[in-house]
This record gives sequence, structure tokens and C-alpha cells, in this order.
Amino acid sequence: MSASGPAPLSGRPVTITGLGAHVPAKVVTNDDLAKVLDTSDEWIRQRTGIRERRVAEAGLSSSDLGITAAREALADAGVSASSIDLVITATISPDRMMPATAARIAHDCGCGNAGAYDVSAGCTGFVYALAMAAGAVASGLHNQVLVVGAETISRIIDWEDRSTAILFGDGAGAVVVSVCGSSPGFGVAHSSLDTRGSGGILGFDLGGDGAGEELLLIPAGGSRLPASCATVEARQHFMKMNGREVYKFATRVIAQSAGRVLERCGREMDEIDLFVPHQANLRIIDAAVEKLGMAKEKVYTNLQEYGNTSCASIPLCLCGARAEGRLHQGDLILLMGFGAGLTWGSCLMEWGQTGMGRAGRGHASEGEGGAGNTRAADGRRD
Ligand code: ACO
Repeated sequence: MSASGPAPLSGRPVTITGLGAHVPAKVVTNDDLAKVLDTSDEWIRQRTGIRERRVAEAGLSSSDLGITAAREALADAGVSASSIDLVITATISPDRMMPATAARIAHDCGCGNAGAYDVSAGCTGFVYALAMAAGAVASGLHNQVLVVGAETISRIIDWEDRSTAILFGDGAGAVVVSVCGSSPGFGVAHSSLDTRGSGGILGFDLGGDGAGEELLLIPAGGSRLPASCATVEARQHFMKMNGREVYKFATRVIAQSAGRVLERCGREMDEIDLFVPHQANLRIIDAAVEKLGMAKEKVYTNLQEYGNTSCASIPLCLCGARAEGRLHQGDLILLMGFGAGLTWGSCLMEWGQTGMGRAGRGHASEGEGGAGNTRAADGRRD
């Protein structure tokens, strides 16, 4: 296994300027699942921390959830859709194998002829996509990138398999990535090469280990095992997981990757104000936090309400954290994803100013009682 990617990030300083989230209205509790599966609320809570999850109504796809989250992120940043150069969608449940879900999101949001592609990196997809966006903006290739984590995992899990069906939920989160100091709606106003204290993405650690491919996968439907009556019969179009091995991998890699990104950026663990890990399982998060020697109060979780929303989990958490007043300008934030591939990725950033679009419409932004935007940003909007 090896870490890759230049860090700390160099070039133009880059930050997140807008956040958006959307989850479907339908709540499925553990007790609901216990009516159709051999499981119980007690087992699920004890082993995972999950109480309930959202499930999209029939007919809705990942792009439908992603479009709502993306529009909210654009409004939050105060930028027009036409100013977006590139849309990247991170998902493990794309609308279709082809074309990219990002293309529909870009079109429906009115992003004109923005580039559009999907990132497939398991539940690490959002951090990978954020790295692509940050690199593109830092280099000057693009000025404003929309990154959307969108999932309808309810469509790709086997509802007869209790070991996976209990874990996942549907949802979407989106961020706008821009140059630090960009004025809402007017592109780049100024830039400086030093992002310290000014709010900005400091660096990444991205990694992968293809030897773990079989631990978490959808076996059929791709070129290795094309769809056939036999693959459908054998339920091979649903996600399969070796839970115990993924658990061991996750607890190991969180601590390793967090250490690497901190080292690359010249920062210390105790400087972190908020840790936003991928929301797979509370036991994984607790074990990793113990390894890191981090205070539990610094960790943000939402899996209790939403389950594992894969590529949507980190942006949904960011929206929730801001709504709860837990994100302040200048805070050092660690984002960490892990998942199928196997893959992992960490991002270290100083939180900047988001919500300029809302501020312009009379809403408070963070540091000024940003929790006032709870309905719009906490991921519970139906
Ligand atoms: N309800 C009741 N019993 C269950 C259930 C259930 N839903 N699921 C499994 N069991 C049973 C098993 O059959 C087993 O029974 P046995 O002892 O009679 O054989 C027993 O419970 C223990 O099973 P384990 O698999 O050992 O349970 P474990 O404590 O490991 O918890 C879990 C399982 C929650 C899946 C855990 O391994 C885990 O969280 N793994 C990581 C999963 C994860 O993070 N996945 C997402 C990765 S991100 C991505 O890219 C998608």
C-alpha cells in the first residue's frame, strides 16, 4: 500500500464556499427492518450505532437527490450555476453505468457546458472528488467546481441480506469549491499563496489497495461479469461485503491516513477542531478515534439518523455540523473517507466562509449564529 498525491496543496488557495444537502422523506427504522429481516433494533444499535435511515421513493435516482443538494450548495455559495466550470459526482449508485450521473446533475442545475464526470472510489468517493476539484482550482484549470456526493444505495443492496441491508441509507450532499476570497457570483477576486488562518484546503492523503477488491463489491453488471439471467438469479447485482475484514481495514487506515495528512501539512492532531469521518459504523469511528487519541467531542456523526450514506456522508455531516454551530471560520477540519477498492482518503482544511449566498438574502453565516439555517442545511429537508 502506498500514499500518493502532492501535499500540502500548492498553487492558488482553495476552499469550500457553499454547502447543500438533501435526504428523502421516508424514514426506515430498525424496527421496520426487523419486521422483514431476522434482526433487531438492539443488535443494529449495539453493532453499528444506527437507529434509522432514509430510503428514496420508487422512481427517484441518485441524480434526483444530488440535484436538490447541488442547487442548495450553489445558492449557499451565492454563485450562479453558469459560473461552474466542472461538476464531479461521487457515487457508488450512479443513475446508469453510462453516462455519468454528473452530466444530468450539471444539466438540471443549469451549469451550461460545464465538464461533468463521476468518481468511483467506494465510500471514499467524496474525498477523492474533493481532491480532484481542489487540484483543478488550485492549478487554475477551473475556477469553480461543484462536487456532489449522491446515493440511492437502497437500489443496490440486497434487502434479503441482513448483514448489509441494515447499514445503508439514501441521501446527497454537495459543496462548491472555489479560490479563497472569491466574491459570490463574480469569480476570483483575489488570491494569496498562504492559506493558513484564512480558510482553505491544506492537503490530502489518498490511497488504495486493490488486493482488497473482493471484500466489498457488486460482482456482476460490469465487463468482468456482464449481466445475464444467471447473475440476476444469483443476486450478483447487489453489494456483497466481508464485514469483519472491512471493519479491520477501516480502523487501521483511518489512523494511518490521518497521521499522514497531518504530517504533510505540518499540523498536529491536537490542533484539530472537528473530525468528520465517513459514517460507516459507530464502533469503527470510536475505535479509530481512540487510536488517534482524539477527544470524542471533536468527532461529528450522523449515522444514527441516516446510516451509511456512502459518498454523501461527509457533505451531509458538514451541513449538519454547520447547522449545529460546530463549524467556525479558521477551525482545523479533518475529513476522512474509506471504502470499496479498497480506498481511503483524508483532507485537512481550515474552514473558511460559506453561506455568502444566504448572508446576502438576510440569513446568518457561520460565526454569526449559522445554526439559524438548520432547515436548509441540516440534511433533513424533505
Ligand atoms: N442482525 C442480527 N444478527 C446479525 C446481523 C443482523 N443484521 N448481521 C449479522 N448478524 C449475525 C451474524 O450472522 C453472526 O452470527 P453468528 O455468530 O451466529 O455467525 C453474528 O451476528 C456476528 O456477525 P459479525 O459479522 O461478526 O458481526 P460484527 O460484529 O462484525 O458486525 C458489521 C457486522 C456491522 C457489518 C461490522 O462487521 C461492520 O460494521 N463492518 C464494516 C462495514 C462497513 O463499514 N461497510 C461499509 C464500508 S464503506 C463502502 O465503501 C460501502
